[in-house]
Amino acid sequence: MIYRAAIEAMRTREVARFIAANPKSRLQSQRSQGWFQGVPFHWMLDWPSPFPIVAASAKDATLTSIDGQFFDDFCLGDTASMFGHSPPALAEALAEQAGQGLSYMLPTAKGVELGEMLAAMFGLPHWQVTTTASEANRAVIRWCRGLTKRSKILIFNGCYHGAVDDVFVDLRGGAPVNRPSLIGQVQDLLPTTVTIEFNDVEALEAALRSGDIACVLAEPVMTNIGMVRDAPGYLETLRRLCSETGTLLVFDETHTISSGYGGHSNTHGPMPDIMVVGKSIGGGVPCAVYGFTAEVAAKMAELNRSRPPGHSGIGTTLSANALAITAMHAMLGQVMTREAYTHMLAMADRLVAGLGAIIAKYQLDWHVSHVGARVEFVCSGTPPRNGSEARAVMDHELESAIHLYLTNRCVLLAPFHNMMLLSPVTQPTQVDRLLQEMGNCVAELLEAKA
Ligand SMILES: Cc1ncc(COP(=O)(O)O)c(C=O)c1O
Repeated sequence: MIYRAAIEAMRTREVARFIAANPKSRLQSQRSQGWFQGVPFHWMLDWPSPFPIVAASAKDATLTSIDGQFFDDFCLGDTASMFGHSPPALAEALAEQAGQGLSYMLPTAKGVELGEMLAAMFGLPHWQVTTTASEANRAVIRWCRGLTKRSKILIFNGCYHGAVDDVFVDLRGGAPVNRPSLIGQVQDLLPTTVTIEFNDVEALEAALRSGDIACVLAEPVMTNIGMVRDAPGYLETLRRLCSETGTLLVFDETHTISSGYGGHSNTHGPMPDIMVVGKSIGGGVPCAVYGFTAEVAAKMAELNRSRPPGHSGIGTTLSANALAITAMHAMLGQVMTREAYTHMLAMADRLVAGLGAIIAKYQLDWHVSHVGARVEFVCSGTPPRNGSEARAVMDHELESAIHLYLTNRCVLLAPFHNMMLLSPVTQPTQVDRLLQEMGNCVAELLEAKA
């Protein structure tokens, strides 16, 4: 049994240890008054440490801090660097492009090739580029409403698809509410965003049969509220109901690209009408893409022909700039290869097996979940079936104590939940170190009495 007092005591010990081990990072964060709250982006304060580690550099799956510590990096930029930090092919391509202009508002020859590479890798014929996955999702929602002439979209409780107003609706006690944490939200999202629980076939059928939903925007496996796996047959039912009701199915594969080559859709099926991929596709350079079927493309072209000239509300000035195109070209061509996935999935198997062994050894009421190279441990024995169940089993105090314990032993997990990513350059020794420290952490927690 892990007692609350043990968690609190560990947290207190680890905070002191962190402060002692990171004096330069501490000084930097105290000095950094130019930034609001000391950081250029407020998410950087979401780590479990009292102040963020200040990074010096990162290469492969290792991150170095200004305090001279070397971290085994399983956060990997919260997916942006899931294929390793600065892969040589990417670094070389970017260096070459840097001297040739960075943004032209014109297509490039490399871009022509990239379009074909995207189609080949993800199995959808037509693509567009945006600067972030959030922006891709916003664009896709707009397209879906334009194409179907329906105002509503359907999402799953507990989802996250980026800074996208339309998806910030939660279920609380079964009733939809605008997400309470939003800043400056004036528009009531409830009339146009339908939220249901993942894996609830009845609710899905009822919502889609109403015939007024433009699109379902979903991750094939929910990854932003811990992990919620699709029940057997659920995604196939979703696909069928969308087709039967004229609803466009959008899979946001920004995270589930970890499933395998071509993402979850190509690895496990079914295929969506529209797919979004962001973050890691640029290897850390801001860019994202959305792809769609020939049928959707034909309707988009028709819509474009029929609308008056003027702003579409889709895209921004830097979308598809030459640097982003170069980054994706290098990533798809030389980094996100089938061989890379073979290694990532083998490392994930090693981690999943090792975590399972720790859970068994200490008889913890925990489980491990993974979507290919994305692994999470969950401090509850029963895998959640939907967002509400996933939210209910989160134990922030315990998770934060474990995170900090591991950070102090130079193992970095993603700050937001217990996410660990395995890259093509993650070494077995790094996985073993994580497991060793995780085992030590659990043993320490269990040793302490109430
Ligand atoms: C599934 C999913 N889609 C989209 C996004 C948004 O990505 P970005 O913050 O790069 O716009 C995220 C971010 O975590 C995500 O998890």
